[in-house]
Formats: sequence, C-alpha cells, structure tokens
Amino acid sequence: MNFETVALDDKNSALVIVDQTRLPGEVVTLRLTRQQEILDAIRTLKVRGAPAIGVAAAIGLYLAAKSICADSFDAFYREFRAAKDALAATRPTAVNLFWALERMEKVVLDSRELPVLEIKRRLYSEALAIREEDIKVCRAIGEHGLKLLRDGDGILTHCNAGRLATVQYGTALAPIYLGCEKGYRFRVFADETRPLLQGARLTAFELALSGVDTTVICDNMAARVMQNGWVQAVLVGADRIAANGDVCNKIGTSALAILAQHYGIPFYVCAPTSTIDLNAATGADIPIEQRPDSEVTEMWFEQRMAPEGVKVYNPAFDITDNALVTGIITEYGVARQPYGESLKAICEQKSAQE
Ligand code: MRU
Repeated sequence: MNFETVALDDKNSALVIVDQTRLPGEVVTLRLTRQQEILDAIRTLKVRGAPAIGVAAAIGLYLAAKSICADSFDAFYREFRAAKDALAATRPTAVNLFWALERMEKVVLDSRELPVLEIKRRLYSEALAIREEDIKVCRAIGEHGLKLLRDGDGILTHCNAGRLATVQYGTALAPIYLGCEKGYRFRVFADETRPLLQGARLTAFELALSGVDTTVICDNMAARVMQNGWVQAVLVGADRIAANGDVCNKIGTSALAILAQHYGIPFYVCAPTSTIDLNAATGADIPIEQRPDSEVTEMWFEQRMAPEGVKVYNPAFDITDNALVTGIITEYGVARQPYGESLKAICEQKSAQE
C-alpha cells in the first residue's frame, strides 16, 4: 500500500487520510483542513479503527491549536478546550480517541508558562510522537503475536484491525504481516463484518494487496469454517479493554469468542496499551456506540433489504467476556488470566518506562 492511512501535512495545515468509505473501489486521499471536515471524517468512518482514530484526533487537535489567534494562555486554552471537546464527541467507544486528546491537553497544561507559539510547537511534536509510537507499538504487537502462530496456520479475523486501522502493520493483522516477511504462509478468513463490511471491504483489500491468502466469509459462516478444522487461531483487535480483561470490539466479536471456545481454538485480542482503560472496571462500564438504522436497512446495497419502518437495533460494538479470551497481545507482551493482575502489571511497566 503506497498511501498514508493517517498523516499530517503541516505545510498545508491538513490531516491526510485515505477515505476508507471509498475502499476497495477507489483509493482516494483526502487533505482535510477545516475542523468540521475532520470531525465528520471520524464520525462517518472515513478514518476508523481505534489507533487510527487516536492519531487523527491528535493531528486534528494540533491543527485546531495552530489556527488559534490568542496571545494569552487563558484565551488560547479556552479555544483549545472547545476543539478538544468537539473531537471527543465524534465517537464514544474507542478509548484511543480520549487517550490521544488527554495526551495533547497535558502538553498544553504542562506548558502554561510558555509563549503560545512554543505551546503550538510542542503540540506539533506530540501529535507526531503519537503517530510514530503507533508504528513501533504495532510492530511489537506483531512480534509477540507471531510467537503464538505457526507457519501454515488458518487465522480467522473480524472487522478491520489492519494497517488501515492504524498507521502501519495494524494490531490483529500485525503478526500476519510480520510472519509473511519471514516467509510464513497463513490462510486468513476475514469475516465480512456486517453492517459496514470492514472485513470484506478493508481487511480483504489490504491483505490481498500484500499477497496474503485471504478468504472472505459472511459472519454466519464462522462456525462452519471452524468445524472444517480450517482455523488454528482467532485474532481480533479492540476498541477498549476493561481492567478485568473484558474486551469491547466490533459487533460480532463476542459470538466468535464463544464459537472459538466451543471448538477449542485460541482467541487472541491484539491491542496497544492505549486501548486498555483501567477506569472501566468491567465491560459494563464501556459506552457502546449506537449507529444509524440505515446502516442495517440500506447502506452498501443498491436496493433496500428491509421493509420501510422496520425496527432496527444497531450497536456498533459488543463485549467479549474475559473468560473467553486466551490472551491479550500488547506491545509489552501477552497478558493472560487473571487479567485484573496481568493488565495492571503491563500498565505499570509502561508508566515506569515513560
Ligand atoms: O467502527 P470501526 O470500524 O471503527 O471499528 C473498528 C474495530 O472494531 C476494530 O476492530 C478496532 O478498532 C481495532 S483496530 C486496530
């Protein structure tokens, strides 16, 4: 893939993204300069996937700060906060969004004695650091994940937790990409992922571009593929992981975990530590985004497939009980049960290194 998924063009004060709603048909790069365009791009999933949303928000907030005309810290901070609040209201579930915005705000608060110009300079560096870290973190997830796989394995994945959802490598797809660099031959089954088809449109697109053997299946075919003995591991990403290891990810993930347990297949969640939310005690504390009915009744199809006026339930995410999760693969290694202890230890290790 010779395009950026999410980047900064500072010279033109633009957030650069590939429009994921146009894939796989067209690769369209957008240069977003107005805040409203950036907010809309996150809300409408032109840029999506927890880590990519975090990076886009950091760059978006830097661009907002750059455009503020204020000499005093108080005046600057007032406008900065308004821009931050607007970005925070775009999507509720992926905690990476809030994590990135908090990091940016900390830079401002720690620099309150400095001239506004210097604060803007520091925000530029922080936004780029968040982006660069994403690349390193995903690579480390890939290295830890690859140790759990064998050449020739069949891998089932859900939604898109690949390069398109991050800056590079992805989370759940990172072990696959790193394995391919070493000559492993995996056979990947990509759930189409109703209703927005991130698996069929995005995962299949990016894996095929990389030459990975990829088969798209409808979401209701996963059990059949497992019964056939074609799946040796399930790898998924996450939008938020609670302190007890409950995993919030794209709707349908939890059903896959239940199937994997039934068929004795390991179920791994690949996620950076920025996706762990120790303030959420369990999955019940994670807000689940509800999205428009039209995504279920008509989007992506030329003809309406449900009767006019029918009731629709369209939660974008679900919670996988931690008891179903074999391991959570982070950049610091693999957390295992009991997750209350292992995730806390990983977060402490991270804090110690900062
Ligand atoms: O609604 P989306 O497409 O943003 O949901 C994305 C997912 O659920 C991904 O699996 C998750 O963000 C992990 S991305 C590395």
